[in-house]
Amino acid sequence: MTELKLSESRDLTRIERIGAHSHIRGLGLDSSLEPRDVSEGMVGQAQARKAAGVILQMIKDGKIAGRAILLAGQPGTGKTAIAMGMAKSLGLETPFSMLSGSEIFSLEMSKTEALMQAFRKSIGVRIKEETEIIEGEVVEIQIDRPAVSGAASKTGKLTLKTTDMETVYDLGAKMIEALGKEKVQSGDVIAIDKASGKITKLGRSFSRSRDYDAMGPQTKFVQCPDGELQKRKEVVHSVTLHEIDVINSRTQGFLALFTGDTGEIRAEVREQIDTKVAEWREEGKAEIVPGVLFIDEVHMLDIECFSFLNRALENEMAPILVVATNRGITSIRGTNYKSPHGIPIDLLDRLLIITTQPYSEDEIRKILDIRCQEEDVEMSEDAKQLLTKIGHETSLRYAIHLITASALNCRKRKGMVVEVQDITRVYSLFLDVRRSTQYLMEYQKEYMFNEASIVDGGDADAIHD
Ligand SMILES: Nc1ncnc2c1ncn2[C@@H]1O[C@H](COP(=O)(O)OP(=O)(O)OP(=O)(O)O)[C@@H](O)[C@H]1O
Ligand SMILES: [Mg+2]
Repeated sequence: MTELKLSESRDLTRIERIGAHSHIRGLGLDSSLEPRDVSEGMVGQAQARKAAGVILQMIKDGKIAGRAILLAGQPGTGKTAIAMGMAKSLGLETPFSMLSGSEIFSLEMSKTEALMQAFRKSIGVRIKEETEIIEGEVVEIQIDRPAVSGAASKTGKLTLKTTDMETVYDLGAKMIEALGKEKVQSGDVIAIDKASGKITKLGRSFSRSRDYDAMGPQTKFVQCPDGELQKRKEVVHSVTLHEIDVINSRTQGFLALFTGDTGEIRAEVREQIDTKVAEWREEGKAEIVPGVLFIDEVHMLDIECFSFLNRALENEMAPILVVATNRGITSIRGTNYKSPHGIPIDLLDRLLIITTQPYSEDEIRKILDIRCQEEDVEMSEDAKQLLTKIGHETSLRYAIHLITASALNCRKRKGMVVEVQDITRVYSLFLDVRRSTQYLMEYQKEYMFNEASIVDGGDADAIHD
């Protein structure tokens, strides 16, 4: 059924989006929300992790809507990492979606539509549904060969039993095909969804455990069900508002979710869906699960987007919004005004601000240790010390990049353990920002569109920070 596939599509995007943060498996907090020194791939940054943990608790309680958090700090201080940690700590039930501020401008839809879709991707709906199923052990499947060749369609009979009863069901062509697809044989315990006709194989009956020929290597044995063959079962589907929107807005339905070709969704469709969901909630059939929307590089949004966010946060069904930026006081995109983090004051006022601090040498060392493990790189103690020093003097990111490069260099000389020589070699091959800037200053005349005079005579730090 469609619901199943929907959750798969969500998992895929989750895996795809990680990468540089694959070592982060959570926020590394204990049960009283105190950050552990090194845990779940997280090192240091205690204040920010703790604050994120408090927010996470609010999300899990599910009571509040429309709160927003700003993660602000210098480049490479773990803002994106913390957001990833939050995502990992949420259960699969709670939707988490992420986009980068600049993405908004490259989509084939208006900026506000893209934001609206992102908001609705972050709101989950748990729909409870009662279905009737038939569950029993297959006694016999009997398929009639059509007497006259070319006669319409196949028919047949299916005998199912529980420990208490046995019934014969008539089969149509569709059911016969479904049984064939699932390779159902007598002795299997199956469940048939009455509404959709979907067949699920639950396993082999214990009473048949001696029919060796009918078993694969992973045969699962189950008890023959008892009681009535027909049962009522409550199933819960977790979908997002966006998924409901897409399914209802186009003829190709849920396929659009895979291609991402959702186009713009009309406001009327959304209104209808909101009304329907509200009805379901009143009847106790559905509940809303507010999730998290993470917008990285939020300074890339422009004034229109910011005012959209202001308004959207006030909606009753708003998710928790987490935004991150490394900008200081800078102009708000689309205006001539300057503002802290490039975010308008009225939106800033709605944000709880969490700041991240630069790492100490000790913390850099621990993060590098974790990354070495993550990338399966063995490194000598001396090499690690040197790399830590490099990380401290240039940037954490540069040092992390050198791990991969030095490991390749090590492999090239057929070594097993990365040594100091590998680090020095790649350090001289790949420049960090500071050295690259120095180089530019020295050779500026040979480059095109040279405007170095603006940077004010060789002050490399002006660019670096
Ligand atoms: N506290 C931490 N524990 C473990 N790894 C970390 C930590 N902080 C950062 N990292 C890792 O260091 C790298 C840089 O961090 P990250 O990308 O989160 O920085 P950022 O604050 O988002 O920077 P920018 O402002 O440039 O986007 C990433 O690979 C990240 O996973
Ligand atoms: Mg980042």
